[in-house]
Amino acid sequence: MRLKSFELAPQDIASVDVDALHALSLGVEWPHRPSDWDALRSLGHGIVALDAIGRVFGSAMWFPHGEDCATIGMVITTPRVQAHGGGRWMMDRLLEECGDRRLILNSTRAAYRLYVSLGFELQATVYQCQGYATPWAASVPGLAEDVEAIAPAGIGEVEALDAAAFGAARPRLMAHLAETAEIRGLRRDGRLVGYGMRRAFGRGCVIGPVVAESEEDAVKLVAALLVGLDGQFVRLDTRQPSGVLRTFLEAAGLRLFDTTKTLTRGAPLPPVEPGRPGIYGLAAHALS
Ligand SMILES: CC(C)(COP(=O)(O)OP(=O)(O)OC[C@H]1O[C@@H](n2cnc3c(N)ncnc32)[C@H](O)[C@@H]1OP(=O)(O)O)[C@@H](O)C(=O)NCCC(=O)NCCS
Repeated sequence: MRLKSFELAPQDIASVDVDALHALSLGVEWPHRPSDWDALRSLGHGIVALDAIGRVFGSAMWFPHGEDCATIGMVITTPRVQAHGGGRWMMDRLLEECGDRRLILNSTRAAYRLYVSLGFELQATVYQCQGYATPWAASVPGLAEDVEAIAPAGIGEVEALDAAAFGAARPRLMAHLAETAEIRGLRRDGRLVGYGMRRAFGRGCVIGPVVAESEEDAVKLVAALLVGLDGQFVRLDTRQPSGVLRTFLEAAGLRLFDTTKTLTRGAPLPPVEPGRPGIYGLAAHALS
């Protein structure tokens, strides 16, 4: 493909130097560290657009979740060649690789028209909440009282609850997070009814996924995960437009920074309703 004066060819994203990918995401002001790219590459597949001397002009990735579902992310065209067809060219290739899986992605404003033209449909707004965690969050007496730590060996139970909320099993992601994230759980009558995770990402720490049967339970899990993070940069992405979780996040120093839109192709997003497992915090933009 020709973009302005550059002749570009697709190549497997696994084959390029992580520093080139890091430079690409920095160029569009994304916070990913090289280790975040490596984690994503270990979880999915993708392509890069390379010129004749191996410079990276674009990227696009997909992440299988079981046999019939995938998420799409890390879709970037370097600014100097944007709006010349590169994004569409990479997405066409990616969609071919995804086959007939149902697809979920979180779209920035810049990418929205592209995805809609490829058959994706709007499902929800994602609220990216972030900031320096305030000591207030951890000092509300009793808020995180019932929350327990879950060891990596307990990931099986977490995975089952996650699948009920997400609408598909995410075994690869769960196995990865079992090794890299702190996990907290909430139990009622011996049954796991909620879980939350936190891990290093970008400028600091990300809290997600958070799965619960109510906003109140989600608040307890997030409060437990904020313990020890006072003064640190923390991010949580949620589809809750308002309510007790958003109020709590705001008070804990995690203010609305930006929004994206969740789009799907092939099936709607499972609803988040009280009384059944729902996604209150995203794993990551690329992983939903
Ligand atoms: C979104 C992005 C990948 C699009 O890449 P691109 O190479 O510019 O895309 P294309 O040239 O193939 O354009 C695809 C469509 O998007 C439209 N588009 C491109 N840039 C746009 C922008 N900044 N705002 C609105 N629409 C835009 C184009 O007009 C085109 O629509 P059309 O075919 O109906 O005319 C690129 O702008 C980018 O990397 N942005 C920063 C990172 C980002 O937001 N990534 C998306 C993550 S979900």
